[in-house]
Amino acid sequence: MDAADMGNDLEKVLISEEDLQVRIKELAGRIDEDYAGKEVLLVGVLKGAVMVMADLARALHVPVQMDWMAVSSYGAGTRSSGVVRVLKDLDTDILDRHVLIVEDIIDSGLTLHWLLENLKSRNPASLEICAALRKPDAVKVPIEVKYVGFDIPSEFVIGYGLDYAERYRNLPFIGTLAPHVYT
Ligand code: XMP
Ligand code: MG
Repeated sequence: MDAADMGNDLEKVLISEEDLQVRIKELAGRIDEDYAGKEVLLVGVLKGAVMVMADLARALHVPVQMDWMAVSSYGAGTRSSGVVRVLKDLDTDILDRHVLIVEDIIDSGLTLHWLLENLKSRNPASLEICAALRKPDAVKVPIEVKYVGFDIPSEFVIGYGLDYAERYRNLPFIGTLAPHVYT
């Protein structure tokens, strides 16, 4: 899927495919340095992290394993509540493993805060976060995100794994939707 397939549904491109790819490779370079001599367990948060996971994993040179979790925030509304339900847990025992959580976007940070506490309780050797995108609200939650692709404004974005009503995940760039799509 690309911009031409969206007709007038695309408002604007916020981060181009090229900028995303360059930045993911930069992050992979830093991760390679930081984890030299170790094996990393990448934990992707479904479904949004699929694209960043695929690109990051292929750009890394350190040995990696990949696993996935699916979580959902309790409660109605568009804001996440911080109360999280596990839809799919890890297949891997992370005891003494070097775990790197791979996320599409951090908005309120509440989901990630919960996930960190949950994974910490399983006693990994180390636990860090890599997120493709971060919104300004994330600063309100005291979590340290070691690897961040881009800080973006508080707008609803789609593409590169992110959806609106399950659509547009397969766009290779990050964009915003024209208002008529929501109404
Ligand atoms: P938190 O708990 O950090 O939630 O508020 C993060 C999750 O919220 C979703 N999210 C978005 N999804 N476009 C999307 O498609 C967005 O702009 C957006 N902002 C937040 C996403 O599922 C993320 O994992
Ligand atoms: Mg979503």
